[in-house]
Amino acid sequence: MSSSTSTISVDGKSVELPVKEGTIGPSVVDISKLYGQTGMFTYDPGFTSTAATESKITYIDGDKGILLYRGYPIDQLAEHGDFLETCYLLLYGELPTAAQKADFDYRVTRHTMVHDQMNRFFTGFRRDAHPMAIMVACVGALSAFYHDSTDISDPHQRMIASMRMIAKMPTLAAMAYKYSIGQPFVYPQNDLDYTSNFLKMCFAVPAEEYKVNPVLSRALDRIFILHADHEQNASTSTVRLAGSSGANPFACIAAGIACLWGPAHGGANEAALKMLEEIGTPDHIPEYIAKAKDKNDPFRLMGFGHRVYKNYDPRARIMQKTTHEVLNELGIKDDPLLDVAVELEQIALKDEYFVEKKLYPNIDFYSGITLKAMGFPTSMFTVLFALARTVGWIAQWSEMIEDPSQRIGRPRQLYTGSPERDYVTVAQRG
Ligand code: SDX
Repeated sequence: MSSSTSTISVDGKSVELPVKEGTIGPSVVDISKLYGQTGMFTYDPGFTSTAATESKITYIDGDKGILLYRGYPIDQLAEHGDFLETCYLLLYGELPTAAQKADFDYRVTRHTMVHDQMNRFFTGFRRDAHPMAIMVACVGALSAFYHDSTDISDPHQRMIASMRMIAKMPTLAAMAYKYSIGQPFVYPQNDLDYTSNFLKMCFAVPAEEYKVNPVLSRALDRIFILHADHEQNASTSTVRLAGSSGANPFACIAAGIACLWGPAHGGANEAALKMLEEIGTPDHIPEYIAKAKDKNDPFRLMGFGHRVYKNYDPRARIMQKTTHEVLNELGIKDDPLLDVAVELEQIALKDEYFVEKKLYPNIDFYSGITLKAMGFPTSMFTVLFALARTVGWIAQWSEMIEDPSQRIGRPRQLYTGSPERDYVTVAQRG
């Protein structure tokens, strides 16, 4: 794959480094031998210029606002596909035939129930526990329940663990929600499709008949497609790093969920909605725009900006359309939060600060409004992101495990602490 080389000069010594080319996107300089040849590391906090891995799964062109899963544009998948088909694509590299799809859907569906003792695990939490805290714990705890799928050297066990996680995430997410509102858990109903089943587990109660709204189910399914994978983002890199030590897949995905929780990452959808609520009315927008631009104020416009996209996040466009579709279906004519969001977006897109720094709405800007309209509380937003991203984490984790050159991840550092010094007893310390 290496077609050319790059030469760097370190302390007057020239070192030739191979350049590797991908199918599309920037090439990389392979620096893996740099330390051996020069005694120096590279330094790149936040990995802004570092490709941590080779991957065939997802491609982003941040300048053009392009996102491809296995080569397919996100808008085509969101418009024509469904979430489980997207899962298949991410896991196996190709869209399924009708027979493969039916088989895959069946296999996922067969794993939707969780071990009954998991119920007791839930009741150990306070009712006001954040559902992301519950998800980190419960997904990690799956490794204590499913010993027959934790041997990562066995491809069959890896496959079973993958199916289990994709299938059980909606069940666990719905249980976390039901627990928080004091309602009984609703068991999965396997003749429903993946997303309708999830809606039912969240919103049905044993006392009444529940009918899934197909428009909402389709909209949520599309939201899951939009969130399914996103290349080497923070949580995916966390899953890969955790997995590189040989940890079991349930533990690795729990690590990914923990990372996703942060407000700079998946927690931004919750933070964005809170921000819109705090702004309240369009006349307060200039005040918040000023705060976001103030270097001395930690406030940032939530749902705005992205490490990779220096153009409109293609997922945000589809999300915006979905927001209107959902509000329309629910007969919500005037949503004050949507008014604030639309106005805020317009003002920010024309503001010199945001234009110059190429800050555009990201996927989290409109997702909160949509999920709130569907009936989800803000604390569940990041849980829904985690549910959908699980397949991406698993696909990336599997790709890493199947790579014969895989080694434990072990970054180095630029040490700036004290040089070696001798221990001094307490009595001798001044
Ligand atoms: C996700 O990577 C992924 O793929 C993640 C994700 C996925 O699918 O996995 O896409 C999901 O996490 C989306 C991002 C959600 N986060 C937010 O919406 C939180 C608000 N946005 C930011 O905090 C920020 O934009 C990040 C975290 C998303 C990106 O951070 P970077 O790449 O480190 O960018 P930066 O902080 O270096 O920003 C560059 C400049 C800075 O100003 P200067 O120091 O150059 O003067 O832009 C400013 C920043 O202060 N800036 C913002 C801003 N975002 C960046 N200023 C005001 N409001 C903002 N939102």
